[in-house]
Amino acid sequence: MLRSTPRSLPSLLALLALSNLVLSASLPAGQAHDHAPLRKRLPGTWYQPGDHPAHALFRRGKRDTSNDGVDYPPVGSSQWSAGYPQGKPDPTEYPQEWLNALNAAVAAGNIPNVPVSTQVNGGNPTYGSLDPTGNEVCSTTYGCRNNDDIWDAPDGVWAAGFDDGPLPTSDKLYQFLQQNNVRSTHFMIGVNILGNPNEFSFAFETLGDDIAVHTWTHPYMTTLSNEQLVGEFGWTMEIIHNSTGGHLPKYWRPPYGDSDNRVSAIAKEVFGLQTIIWNHDTEDWSIDQPGYSTTPESVNASLTQWITGPKSPGLIVLEHELTEFTVQAFIDAFPLIKSSGWDIVSVTELDGESAYANADGDDGEVTPVSGIFLNAPAAAASNASASASGVNFGSSSAATSSSASPSQSAGSSGGAAGAGGAKQAVGSAGSSSSSIHAAAAPTGTNLASGATSVHWQHVLGDVPGMLAAMFTVLVSAVVFA
Ligand SMILES: *[C@@H]1O[C@H](CO)[C@@H](O)[C@H](O)[C@H]1NC(C)=O
Ligand SMILES: *[C@@H]1O[C@H](CO)[C@@H](O)[C@H](O)[C@H]1NC(C)=O
Ligand SMILES: *[C@@H]1O[C@H](CO)[C@@H](O)[C@H](O)[C@H]1NC(C)=O
Ligand SMILES: [Zn+2]
Repeated sequence: MLRSTPRSLPSLLALLALSNLVLSASLPAGQAHDHAPLRKRLPGTWYQPGDHPAHALFRRGKRDTSNDGVDYPPVGSSQWSAGYPQGKPDPTEYPQEWLNALNAAVAAGNIPNVPVSTQVNGGNPTYGSLDPTGNEVCSTTYGCRNNDDIWDAPDGVWAAGFDDGPLPTSDKLYQFLQQNNVRSTHFMIGVNILGNPNEFSFAFETLGDDIAVHTWTHPYMTTLSNEQLVGEFGWTMEIIHNSTGGHLPKYWRPPYGDSDNRVSAIAKEVFGLQTIIWNHDTEDWSIDQPGYSTTPESVNASLTQWITGPKSPGLIVLEHELTEFTVQAFIDAFPLIKSSGWDIVSVTELDGESAYANADGDDGEVTPVSGIFLNAPAAAASNASASASGVNFGSSSAATSSSASPSQSAGSSGGAAGAGGAKQAVGSAGSSSSSIHAAAAPTGTNLASGATSVHWQHVLGDVPGMLAAMFTVLVSAVVFA
């Protein structure tokens, strides 16, 4: 069966001791930029549309280097990791600028007042009496396509992207991508970056791949308050920014494909992030999971059908760097993708754009960012805070719109094939765990040393339990299906 909509997943939480953070060492440190040159655009320009509110938040400047001139601590060092939350972000510990920016966007009418969704036992989030596919909510979980979001690739294009990394299981994928000269986007989970800095650096420095946001702790985003959303976006953007010489990501993918008008508005209006979903789902994450019928063969069959099928629209297939199975599924399919004539492109560069808001690709010139992401020098900070308090927030559309839903132009609900109907029920999530668990912690990989202090814990489909667990154990990594 062809499934085209996001689905619920069992979530898998793995807690690792902090002491392992800096012990990772399974990939060689990045030999810089041996990948093919990226498409170039004007250097030193700002890659947001001219009227984007993010302009008001980020100071622009010009440097001659591929970083923004700030001496960031080495990725993986204790100094590098010290500033980030180890688990669920706590709003009392956010930079005040983030909350100022949220408040300004709300005050400007740019964040629709869609209610926070309710989720029971890992099922689809619901909105009370509101239609999740209606113009007000436009839930991507139910296949509602907001016009601002990306679901399809251009004709003939295979848009490569992998979710949930970086992880020890990423190593094999990265080596394959390198050997085959494939560039792709990695939708990364913030706490996994904290826990797997070597994989992170290999993806960015050595592969020259694109890094995008997959949130800090991989929640169902529509279930979170505005303030909680800000932390999930903000910390992930900050760790990517501070670990790449100042590259500010421009795209995000919602965990479980779960977003709506409110969530995507905060992503866009506060952080300048555009939402990327997918038009085909291999269900690769569930291979060999108890309670699921997915096998390498069934994934192979789905991929074969899509790869050899129509070239219009192009394919955005949801794939993961989560387990050895998900990695192998792509490796196995790659020869057919090539021989079938697909143009393989990193999904964040689909439209010829950069994956970053302030740089032309990973090795393009970086313009410094200030305001919400940096504790900027006084002069820059004063400009940033002026904008954050609303001075520059009203883009023309915001100023004239009395509607509470800026991005609701959505209208075209149900654009996703199958809409809600294809959504997979995951009622039995709680019973499955061991194989993802095992796959997420293979021996000999980067978090294995100091194994006695590694604590694994699964909290499947249980958000409150997950929160409790995260605050009772010192964590450095969270791995989700
Ligand atoms: C990110 O880098 C900036 C500039 O050096 C610094 O002010 C900020 O504290 C860093 N963030 C974290 C979480 O370390
Ligand atoms: C499916 O499996 C066969 C047999 O191993 C292999 O030759 C083929 O390339 C695979 N196709 C895909 C799309 O994975
Ligand atoms: C602050 O804004 C003023 C007025 O727009 C501008 O002239 C100045 O260069 C800005 N300063 C910084 C540090 O960005
Ligand atoms: Zn994910």
